[in-house]
Amino acid sequence: MSSSSAASGWMSSPILKKVITGVTGLGLTLFVLGHMIGNLAMFSGLDAYNEYAHFLASLGPVFYAIELGLLVFFVFHIVTGIRIAVGNRAARKSRYAVYKTAGGPSRQTAASRSMIITGMLLMVFLVIHLLSFKFGPGGPGNASASYVTTIDGVEMRDLAKLVHEKFQTPWYTFGYAASMLLLLIHLRHGVWSGLQSLGAMRPSWTPVVYTIGGLLGAGIAAGFIAMPLAIYFGLI
Ligand code: HEM
Repeated sequence: MSSSSAASGWMSSPILKKVITGVTGLGLTLFVLGHMIGNLAMFSGLDAYNEYAHFLASLGPVFYAIELGLLVFFVFHIVTGIRIAVGNRAARKSRYAVYKTAGGPSRQTAASRSMIITGMLLMVFLVIHLLSFKFGPGGPGNASASYVTTIDGVEMRDLAKLVHEKFQTPWYTFGYAASMLLLLIHLRHGVWSGLQSLGAMRPSWTPVVYTIGGLLGAGIAAGFIAMPLAIYFGLI
């Protein structure tokens, strides 16, 4: 067997696909939780926000390693997520295959099918998001003297200025708020599904874990929405 067919062989195992989506999804959940908490630095002032972003960038190789890890997690999560959705669709269409739901008050029907839709929309959000901030003015390959500030004698990117500018426009601010609601829906089902794929829970725990996923998703979404809305309404 050639190495490429071996690779496509293991990637086509349904259980492995679920485990990869679960592990990467739970890892990405930890990232968004950390990212949301970091963003709250804006409530301590523009300098605090810039210093926080500068601190992360100053980690150098450690920061690049985290970014690389994130990229790998995103790519695996998206590729295996799409393959699961395509596989489920094919199984539903085939008259030989029986599409099994989780039974009872099924968690595996509407919510899991909506994962691909919310996931795709979040991917669009992420591309716009990275182009606006990470690669926006003052970012890598986009040097701009207007987005540089000096705090306590240290020169750094004025990310707080860029964030404030972006959240002056209604379509941008409310588009962000809507995207965070998509994130909430995605996380609510995703946290449960990820833990289940890893065998980390008994079926009887489903309602509890679903509630925890919902609360975590709601907390992350609320934390993310707070800063753009506060800027838009001139509170910070
Ligand atoms: C209101 C919500 C959000 C705000 C205000 C925000 C803000 C920012 C800013 C300012 C940066 C640039 C950081 C830098 O270049 O140092 C950034 C980077 C990033 N954000 Fe967000 N973010 C939000 C939500 C999200 C969400 C929901 C996701 C994931 C689904 C996300 C994923 C990322 C990623 C992957 C990066 C790049 C990290 C890196 O490589 O350094 N963000 N965000």
